[in-house]
Amino acid sequence: MSPGFISVRVDGQTRRAALGGFRARRSLVAMAPRFAAFDERHHRRGTEMSVCLAGEDDLAVLAQLAEAHSGVTGGWAERLGADLSGDGRALFVARVQQAMAGYGRVRWFSPPPGSPADTVPAGWYLGGLVVALDRRGCGAGAALTRARVGWVAERADEVWYYANARNAVSLALHAAVGFEEVTRDFSVPGVSFEGGLGVLCRLRLRPHHGDGDHASGRW
Ligand SMILES: CC(C)(COP(=O)(O)OP(=O)(O)OC[C@H]1O[C@@H](n2cnc3c(N)ncnc32)[C@H](O)[C@@H]1OP(=O)(O)O)[C@@H](O)C(=O)NCCC(=O)NCCS
Repeated sequence: MSPGFISVRVDGQTRRAALGGFRARRSLVAMAPRFAAFDERHHRRGTEMSVCLAGEDDLAVLAQLAEAHSGVTGGWAERLGADLSGDGRALFVARVQQAMAGYGRVRWFSPPPGSPADTVPAGWYLGGLVVALDRRGCGAGAALTRARVGWVAERADEVWYYANARNAVSLALHAAVGFEEVTRDFSVPGVSFEGGLGVLCRLRLRPHHGDGDHASGRW
């Protein structure tokens, strides 16, 4: 996929942003807790924001963020770089006041042959959403999610997402964008949820006319 421009609605305004590199921020290398703490009194900090498809120049700093968040060292530039191929996947970056704030991934998933009956259905999945610790609460996560939903909307009638049931902030963010819980009884090949419970959510992008004519079958 060739990188380009994208428009996103942020705080009621349409913003259009071009690709470009950005400098690594020292704060990115601090190890982040796995989930953000849910704050009932959360208030978004208003700030300048842009979201666009990532390019090669972004990979080094995104890899630092991925490493800091996951605690898994090495290989992130290659892993994230594979998302630039355009082959059933995409990678978006958000900048807050010109500085890198976070990234979000999109991927097509098809259950491998012989998958258990509770395997999540084939479709486009949002995943790999990470915002730098010192940029959280500015709307970057929501903007990355809306941009990815917009990208999928050009390709499909629905978009999926799953998260750990303990990740209240992520679930609140996706609910605010329109995702609805489908089930907690599902599996994803190679994925286990800390604490044992995941939540599968879907956002329908077009009117739905019943399960019989729908690609996602029993879901
Ligand atoms: C989840 C994460 C991406 C959110 O990013 P963010 O940029 O801080 O989120 P936003 O500022 O866009 O907030 C969007 C919505 O999420 C919710 N939210 C965000 N932070 C919150 C908090 N601390 N407490 C409660 N709700 C919160 C609110 O509903 C908010 O909407 P609002 O601003 O209109 O109130 C970020 O916390 C993160 O990187 N966490 C670690 C990785 C992770 O869990 N990723 C998701 C995996 S599925």
